[in-house]
Amino acid sequence: MQLNRPSHTNTMTSRTSHTFEDPDTQKQIAAEAAVAYVHDGDVIGLGTGSTVKHFLSALKEKVKAGWRIQGVSTSQATSNLAQQFGIPLLTEEKDWVINVAIDGTDQVDPRFNLIKGGGGALLREKIVASAARQFIVIADASKHVPVLGHPMPLPVEVIPFGWPHTAKLIQQLGYRSVLRQRDGRAFLTDSGHYILDVAIDRIDDPALLETTLNTIPGVVDNGLFVGRTSLLILGTPHGVEISSPTTRPSSV
Ligand code: 5RP
Repeated sequence: MQLNRPSHTNTMTSRTSHTFEDPDTQKQIAAEAAVAYVHDGDVIGLGTGSTVKHFLSALKEKVKAGWRIQGVSTSQATSNLAQQFGIPLLTEEKDWVINVAIDGTDQVDPRFNLIKGGGGALLREKIVASAARQFIVIADASKHVPVLGHPMPLPVEVIPFGWPHTAKLIQQLGYRSVLRQRDGRAFLTDSGHYILDVAIDRIDDPALLETTLNTIPGVVDNGLFVGRTSLLILGTPHGVEISSPTTRPSSV
């Protein structure tokens, strides 16, 4: 499989004789590799999703071994898992100092820009990523794309009040959206907002689109994460690939 990488990427590959064709196994090996970047005593931002679930499961073993870490959760789903795994959490309204945040992604491009929010936690995920000294993205190889966009819609979190008007303003930019549903009702985020899933063929300028969408009245935030990734840990069929947008050396 050919992976697109920027020329300034510093990549380290951990290859084994095994192959990891199953995406969930790729998520697991990426998540387990991320544990090398957390330390006893750290405050850790905990993302949301099935890849993060593997990370929490690996973290559980460190807590059992006596590590005194504290988590900042990005969703109720993650808080529930953390509780189940015995991972202590800081309260939502604390002024956290987060050493490292670990999160999954729906797409990552060669410049390490992301589309997130498939699980509906983008707002808290972006707050936690912005509060962290280091933001580490863990993903399976299918998430690595040459250009962000189709087939993944861009999730945009909006206030329920007047949402059809907000959708119209987004349409005036040239993009159609659908209101995310769950069980026949509008999907509600943990912050009580709706999600508009916006269909975009290709996002050639993620930075511009991220800021443009956020100027629309009613938009709370959107799933573009531009210039935030410190490190990408990708599970691939051949093992774990670690790359970063800087030339700083990385290690497994
Ligand atoms: C949730 C997210 C997730 O990180 C994203 O949807 C990836 O999920 P998964 O790890 O299950 O593939 O952004 O809002």
